[in-house]
Amino acid sequence: MFLPIKFFLRKKTKDNDILTDMNHNREHILPKHIGIIMDGNGRWAKKHGKMRSAGHVEGAQRFREIVKYCEKIGIKYLTVYAFSTENWRRPQEEVNGIMKLFKEYLIEALTDFQKENIKTCFIGDRSVLSKELIDLMNQCEEDTKNKTGLVLNIAINYGGRNEIVKAVKELAKECLDGKILPDDITEQSISQHLYTVNQPDPDLIIRPSGEYRTSNFLLWQSAYSEYYFDNILWPDYTGKDLERAIEAYCKRNRRYGGI
Ligand code: FPP
Repeated sequence: MFLPIKFFLRKKTKDNDILTDMNHNREHILPKHIGIIMDGNGRWAKKHGKMRSAGHVEGAQRFREIVKYCEKIGIKYLTVYAFSTENWRRPQEEVNGIMKLFKEYLIEALTDFQKENIKTCFIGDRSVLSKELIDLMNQCEEDTKNKTGLVLNIAINYGGRNEIVKAVKELAKECLDGKILPDDITEQSISQHLYTVNQPDPDLIIRPSGEYRTSNFLLWQSAYSEYYFDNILWPDYTGKDLERAIEAYCKRNRRYGGI
């Protein structure tokens, strides 16, 4: 049965938050890092006879709500896929609309985040974005860098393959500069050159909207992530849907290749 997380008893340990399901006297580990592929804005708009841009406007609202929800229930890291390296293939008008929403959010965040305990980070290649956006992103990261609550990663112009290429290039340069030898390269050193450096890998990756693909999201980091797919279009997504995904995650048996 679905139990809202507030009905679980929470116990903090050094490494994790343990939830005890009081009805069944079972202990679960709350996911530390959740990734969300915010999908289905376009189909939601079509279903409601609206322009695709209206779906993104609604999607941006759900994003705001889900961030607050994650902070409230004690998730430590949330990574949302807002714009991929492939999304530039969309009509210019749609791309402009998403960038406009992103700018509005950044301006709002710069005032709102003073009172929130959220540390905001941006993952992806920001170099091709407008100077205005880059400045706002840098300001947002600077202003929230000492916050101790939820770490929010917003993936903008992000692609998992692109991120791995970036890491490989940086490590190749270190080899050429004589700082390391090729044999010094390890899984750990590759992780250290990803945008998510020093963050734990995602435990749970959620993709709503009925699509069953990873779409280049956190390719390296998701090696042992648990996936959760459902049919809800992102603009219809609520905290209850998120809790259902977390509850499903809590029931899984993660073996990491062991037995
Ligand atoms: C995927 O749905 C969604 C996107 C590519 C854009 C996501 C953007 C937002 C949620 C709003 C802006 C975000 C921030 C951080 C303010 P889709 O358009 O591919 O939907 P479809 O598959 O139904 O066409």
